[in-house]
Amino acid sequence: MGNMRSRVAVLVVVLGLAGAVAVLAAAQPAANGLPKYTNGYAKWKKLNRKPITTPGAHTGIKNVYASKPRKRKKFPNGTVIVKTIAQPGQKGLPFQVAVMRKVRGVWRWVEYERSGARYGVLAKGQVCVSCHVQAKANDWVFTRR
Ligand code: HEC
Repeated sequence: MGNMRSRVAVLVVVLGLAGAVAVLAAAQPAANGLPKYTNGYAKWKKLNRKPITTPGAHTGIKNVYASKPRKRKKFPNGTVIVKTIAQPGQKGLPFQVAVMRKVRGVWRWVEYERSGARYGVLAKGQVCVSCHVQAKANDWVFTRR
């Protein structure tokens, strides 16, 4: 009996580790520090017509890209929306990158800031939701074409 129980315990630990490894793999950043699911965003469909320059939570010259089109009014699960925030006159990689990703009907929020050639997390979660709630009727997305 004791043996059985410890075997179950070992199995639970192994499965737990496998799960953790899978989660780590999915969240693994690309070389530049941004998550891999943002790769190629500059080729996605742009949601804004002209660069956005209104100040606010994200200040700079902004462009918004979506990995998938809306179906009716909502973006489907798996959609990634990237907003690049560049500083005036700055070329190359944008200074900040704000990301929304829809997982099981709920957006996840992370904003990154660049230091040299690498991005690190600047802010995420509730602070984003507390402002984007104003766009709730538009699937939490402010930018529309
Ligand atoms: C005080 C309000 C406010 C906060 C806080 C905020 N945002 Fe936004 N966000 C906006 C506005 C307004 C836009 C529309 C474009 C613009 O004016 O920059 C926007 C646009 C975006 C977009 C492009 C899609 C869209 O809604 O147009 C993404 C992605 C985004 N924000 C991510 C984030 C993340 C991640 C955070 C938290 C780290 C965050 N935002 C915090 C106001 C906010």
